Amino acid sequence: MPTKTMEAATQIAALRAHLHQHAHHYYVLDAPQIPDAEYDRMFQELQTLEAAYPELRSPDSPTQRVGGAVLSGFASVRHAVPMLSIRTETDTQASGAQAFDARVRKELGLTEADPLVEYVAELKFDGLAVNLRYEQGVLVQAATRGDGESGEDVTQNIRTLGQIPLRLPNDAPAVLEVRGEVYMRRDDFERLNEQQRAKGEKTFINPRNTAAGALRQLDPAIAAQRPLRFFAYGLGECTPPEQGGPVWQSHYELLQTLKNWGFPVASQVERALGATKLIAYHARIAALRDSLPFDIDGVVYKLNSLALQRQLGFVSREPRWAVAHKYPAQEELTTVLAIDVQVGRTGKLTPVAKLAPVFVGGVTVTNATLHNEDEARRKDVRVGDTVVVRRAGDVIPEVVSVLAQKRVADAQPFTMPHTCPVCGSAALREEGEADYRCTGGLFCSAQRKQAILHFAQRRAVEVEGLGDKLVEQLVDAGIVKTLPDLYRLGLMALANLDRMADKSAQNLLEALQKSKQTTLPRFVFGLGIRHVGEATAKALARHFGQLDAIMNASEAQLLEVTDVGPIVALSIVTFFAQAHNREVVEQLRACGLQWQEGEPAPRTALPLAGKTFVITGSLPTLSREQAKELLEAAGAKVAGSVSKKTDYVVAGAEAGSKLDKAQALGVAVLDEAGLLALLAEPSN
Ligand code: IVH
Repeated sequence: MPTKTMEAATQIAALRAHLHQHAHHYYVLDAPQIPDAEYDRMFQELQTLEAAYPELRSPDSPTQRVGGAVLSGFASVRHAVPMLSIRTETDTQASGAQAFDARVRKELGLTEADPLVEYVAELKFDGLAVNLRYEQGVLVQAATRGDGESGEDVTQNIRTLGQIPLRLPNDAPAVLEVRGEVYMRRDDFERLNEQQRAKGEKTFINPRNTAAGALRQLDPAIAAQRPLRFFAYGLGECTPPEQGGPVWQSHYELLQTLKNWGFPVASQVERALGATKLIAYHARIAALRDSLPFDIDGVVYKLNSLALQRQLGFVSREPRWAVAHKYPAQEELTTVLAIDVQVGRTGKLTPVAKLAPVFVGGVTVTNATLHNEDEARRKDVRVGDTVVVRRAGDVIPEVVSVLAQKRVADAQPFTMPHTCPVCGSAALREEGEADYRCTGGLFCSAQRKQAILHFAQRRAVEVEGLGDKLVEQLVDAGIVKTLPDLYRLGLMALANLDRMADKSAQNLLEALQKSKQTTLPRFVFGLGIRHVGEATAKALARHFGQLDAIMNASEAQLLEVTDVGPIVALSIVTFFAQAHNREVVEQLRACGLQWQEGEPAPRTALPLAGKTFVITGSLPTLSREQAKELLEAAGAKVAGSVSKKTDYVVAGAEAGSKLDKAQALGVAVLDEAGLLALLAEPSN
């Protein structure tokens, strides 16, 4: 080798070593050690050198990650060791782990007297299985699982994954095949879709599909742009110990070695002794599932001892020593039967896709929100479409995307109606707003139903037993048109309703009677003025003291109330500017609704203004809610947790950590008597 080439070779080797090391810190450990620009500089230097000395090029060079030539197809690769599938425990309940453990124990010939069996519990990643083959420490081939016997050669694309080592440390065996899952994180998937939208290109369906598509890209440059990642979970062919290969006793130990060699191994891998520990793992991961940055569809249990694994062997294409324990799927396909537009209490129009019933995320879903016009248009959901529905955790089911290839020929795009689908009033979308709103107000029966339910809820005037079914009937039968109509209901009218027993009718009338004695904040909140929640209603009541003062306040006067900003002030003024709303208030008063009115008291003049209280434990006579109301009426703020800013803690029986904290911080502690004394102090 000429001297110059020798020099270049040394330089190239050094650059590659540095870049490998930094790529590992960046992609696998998520802890870059040098700035990106520095990495880029070294990378370019290497590229320049490799271009000048083509004879020094090598497939394990970091420059090979950016993707080589476009392929015309994928070559088929026969796996040296078949890629098995994994038995799925059909019982999705906890007992699935028990059944697996019982089977393993039986096959190992263990009795009850024998000790617990050790397993490894892992996540079941929802991606694609690949086999990575290293010879003399260099990545030489990567293949998909295919039918388990042979898969496709995706080496070029796999090289673009920063998380996959292109070369291994010196203690790696002559032949090593690492198996694991290629996947895409959910946030990376979202970002990719945002980019697609920005470019006006079609969006992807889900992370798994996108990862699969990227891996099977014939143009590695495109694959290189897809944010793919990898987790190692097993082994294929490996130099045997008698030929100097590694000696591992357990699966866990094997995973630790892979990690040391630079492969990403999920941090949730755990050893578990016996079925109970597996059940606990299954439950723990279920709770964690939605907060993981990537999709999983279950957990996998594997016998930890490799000797015992060998002893158990396989049945058909599945090992006897491993099992997958699935969770309910979070995404399913279904078809859109219709797109309805629902009207909420404040008149907001929400497009909702009516779906052919589908079991997803543990429940049967028949509706999925499309949120608003822009969202519906962005996803371009049409009646008859096949769609991906997602329900994760407790969140509302959502249409993720449409399968464009399955669209029926004459499917019409969805358009937002410009009139209310319930009452026919004009529906308007104001500038800068995402939502259309029905302008019908309480003339609109949908808004009326929601308004009545809002008024009757526990936190407002509370009419016990007045639920959505009953409100639906009362409004549809035309018996209740406005809130005051509730108080004009008689036994006769109620008796005519479906499924209304005399006793329930009587109970409802009593509940209505009881609700007449209310408080000003509850009443104001119950009116359902847009942007006026419970806290604002309380602030208004405290500030103005009397309903008429609130009704007649100008925007400027309203702005004096703490926590009331311009949007809220305008909303209140607009509400009371409408004659029919004032009429409702007058009629409710005429029906006997009453509350204690006070003197208008500017907040700062209140005795406990600026003081913060925390109530904990149970007080002898007052409920916590009552104590809170008393304090707030005196201008105090009632907080949920104790801090240095707390002025007083009111403690009752069985006060716990909050009392401890108050004492630790030296905050004054009052009992109920102390609180009442403070409220009664003349100086206050
Ligand atoms: S072990 C002999 N471990 O599940 C067992 N597989 O049918 C071979 N998978 O498509 C697989 N996470 O890609 C194993 N922690 C994990 C896994 C896992 C996901 C997938 C794998 C394959 C299927 C096995």
